[in-house]
Amino acid sequence: MTVMLADGRPMPRLGLGTWPMNDEEARQAVTHAVSLGYRLIDTAASYGNERGVGAAVADAPAAREDLFVTTKLRGSHHGYDAALRGFEESRERLGLDYVDLYLIHWPLPDRGLYVETWRALVHLREQGLARSIGVSNFTPAQIERLVEETGVWPVVNQVEMHPGFPQRELRAWHAEHDIVTESWSPLGAGRKLLDEPVVTDLAAAHGRTPAQIVLRWHVQLGAVPIPKSANTERMRQNFEVFDFSLSPEDMAAIDTLAGGGRIGGDPDTHVEL
Ligand code: A2P
Repeated sequence: MTVMLADGRPMPRLGLGTWPMNDEEARQAVTHAVSLGYRLIDTAASYGNERGVGAAVADAPAAREDLFVTTKLRGSHHGYDAALRGFEESRERLGLDYVDLYLIHWPLPDRGLYVETWRALVHLREQGLARSIGVSNFTPAQIERLVEETGVWPVVNQVEMHPGFPQRELRAWHAEHDIVTESWSPLGAGRKLLDEPVVTDLAAAHGRTPAQIVLRWHVQLGAVPIPKSANTERMRQNFEVFDFSLSPEDMAAIDTLAGGGRIGGDPDTHVEL
């Protein structure tokens, strides 16, 4: 249950999102998730829960090399030196020797520093401190600029994606460039997506829950969803999406939900506090 990144490293096909959770909530959620079989854990400096995630990883009933810990650089640490510092602070809070995937959380084009920031991530990868490097909430034009100026492609772009905002064009572009699409708010952030008749009908037909139908849609599109749940039963069901499949007709039915627009920030204009 992994997808191969362009740098040759395997990434789990589904993970646990941890926003919004505080340290203690994250510690409990990650501990439980790992016991259920989750191996990919997604956090960020700006979530304020890296210590909790790190504590759970330290005590996890899984070897460190079997876990895939992702964290992200916050906007306050854009720039080469600041990014190296930001990484070190995250690594210390997590209590880890290395992270599996390090992402620039937002491009913040108004700041004009994402290329320098990317150079720092390239350095961290060369040092083995970040095993894989990528971006989050970047547009193709922004990624092209990274590559023109540094020659290094991100292997992942983590973006908002759910049936209401399916990122068709971006996914096609990612596929051309061997970039894995990681989906944040894969369930539509708990909004009415899971009550849509298209989804509830498919859930009934497959004997699954609406969330499982939506997560399976992500997986079949080749995206890596990171559903957040702090509830142990929902966490369990969200992970059980590898023992059934949706037909092309099912996928097409879900595709009719497109058009709802974004829930979160726009890469070109988002200003992170
Ligand atoms: P909870 O933490 O109480 O389970 P997203 O990952 O798309 O942002 O969605 C997260 C939201 O969806 C949270 O409010 C979470 O609440 C809820 N959620 C997570 N898993 C499920 C599920 N299987 N069924 C219904 N709601 C879910």
